[in-house]
Amino acid sequence: MLRERALSAMTRAYAPYSSFRVGAALLGADGSVTEGCNVENASFPAGICAERGALAAAVARGVRAFEALAIATEAEEPTPPCGICRQVLEEFSPHLVIVSVTRDGREARWTLDELLPRAFTPKSLDRR
Ligand code: THU
Repeated sequence: MLRERALSAMTRAYAPYSSFRVGAALLGADGSVTEGCNVENASFPAGICAERGALAAAVARGVRAFEALAIATEAEEPTPPCGICRQVLEEFSPHLVIVSVTRDGREARWTLDELLPRAFTPKSLDRR
């Protein structure tokens, strides 16, 4: 299940600075699942979120359309993706279903349309 894949990816997170481990699992329109985890860096801004890691890995394997994203953290409450990740996901799947889970089994669900209303999209670049 997608949630389990995100939880499993979370165990591989490299988060020595924040100790906030995140896992992500992206379900492609072709049925594939691509995992990602946050990878931090001694130069703090160079770190990357789990969601963007998963998206980049999926695109690299040729998948560009997605049905759902599962996010897993150890937080008390399910966490939504950060603003930058919302924007990056929007490029490929504006109607993405996002489910976020905690280790204790709490769960929240949104669509990307809800989390990023009035998004800047490829269409926004059209001139006249
Ligand atoms: N993080 C993610 O991986 N995804 C998010 O949506 C929010 C934040 C990571 C970035 C950093 O490594 C740690 O969580 C704390 O912000």
